[in-house]
Amino acid sequence: MKSLLIAYHSQSGASAQLARAAWRGALAETGVEVVVRRAWDAGVEDLRRAQGVLLVAAENSAALSGGMKDFLDRTFYPAIAHELVLPYALLVSAGNDGRGAVRQLQRIMSGYPFPPAAEPVILRGEVTEAHLRAAGELGAAFATGLAMGIF
Ligand SMILES: Cc1cc2nc3c(=O)[nH]c(=O)nc-3n(C[C@H](O)[C@H](O)[C@H](O)COP(=O)(O)O)c2cc1C
Repeated sequence: MKSLLIAYHSQSGASAQLARAAWRGALAETGVEVVVRRAWDAGVEDLRRAQGVLLVAAENSAALSGGMKDFLDRTFYPAIAHELVLPYALLVSAGNDGRGAVRQLQRIMSGYPFPPAAEPVILRGEVTEAHLRAAGELGAAFATGLAMGIF
């Protein structure tokens, strides 16, 4: 069975809520195992067990949040050593922007190199029902794509 890793970093809880919603959405696809890990706790072994990775994090100071950046910094060379090529998707929780985090992440991912499985999703402001729905839809679409062998 294919496995989708959802790795998230959240300081005040917004990205954690989005990650949970994405997890629920992905669970609707029964043909895929879904593993949720805090970015601080995740490592290259989690990437090695996965066939796709959904990253969920905030934009802080016009950049990717520190916890997510730490995860990527720690796994960059190990992922290259294992020749990992995983499709990824990105959910960004932001106050009023989010584009800096997306740009940074896309640049980092092109170095792994991991290909995008979907357009990045930026959700601005307080977490709303619409945000949770969008996160759930992204999780479901990613899981379905993995199950169908699209990615
Ligand atoms: C130190 C700090 C810097 C931030 N910088 C930005 C920023 O540059 N752009 C933006 O849109 N939001 C910014 N925000 C707002 C957060 O992105 C937003 O509150 C987000 O929902 C937090 O997600 P989290 O609870 O998962 O950490 C910042 C928040 C903090 C605490």
